[in-house]
Amino acid sequence: MTELEVFEGDITTLKVDAIVNAANEALAGGGGVDGAIHSAAGPELLQACRSIGGCPTGEAVITPGFKLPSANVIHTVGPIWRGGQSGEPELLASCYRASIQLAETHGLRSIAFPSISTGVYGYPLEEAAAVAVRTVRNAINKASTLEKVIFCCYDHRAFNVYRETLNSK
Ligand code: APR
Repeated sequence: MTELEVFEGDITTLKVDAIVNAANEALAGGGGVDGAIHSAAGPELLQACRSIGGCPTGEAVITPGFKLPSANVIHTVGPIWRGGQSGEPELLASCYRASIQLAETHGLRSIAFPSISTGVYGYPLEEAAAVAVRTVRNAINKASTLEKVIFCCYDHRAFNVYRETLNSK
């Protein structure tokens, strides 16, 4: 059985098999969680991203974690919120599915997600949390290598929203 949990704090401190980065299509680094992950991992992470070249919205790629306590970083690109009628829920769900699939392909046992798209990309938090929890639950089957999935929330509001979503659905 895969355990789902909510953690409040900085994703770069987590010692898991992979942390997920809310990246952009160019994999060029940025602010928010992307900036935090790149500065904690060191410049080798940007080099690894450059050699991959890019990642379309809704897909995911994997690199080592370099100086991070987590062994790997899974970079996924969430949708920019444009009002909800431009395929945003499907694209956000695809980020979680693709990341889980990549983790399983690599035989990983633990993964931590930030709240993808809910910062700079403007996705409403409650709606994003519902997509995240539902998609992760559906993506994980009995044969999954994943023993633990962590929803990492940077602030208390997000922590409460994710906790309530996890408990109510
Ligand atoms: N640990 C965990 N979560 C964090 C951290 C951190 N260190 N820093 C920020 N967050 C949270 C934010 O509070 C937000 O809830 O991550 C969530 C996602 O916010 P963003 O990082 O802004 O990501 P997103 O909305 O997907 O926008 C992606 O922003 O930084 C750029 O390069 C990135 O262009 C891309 C865009």
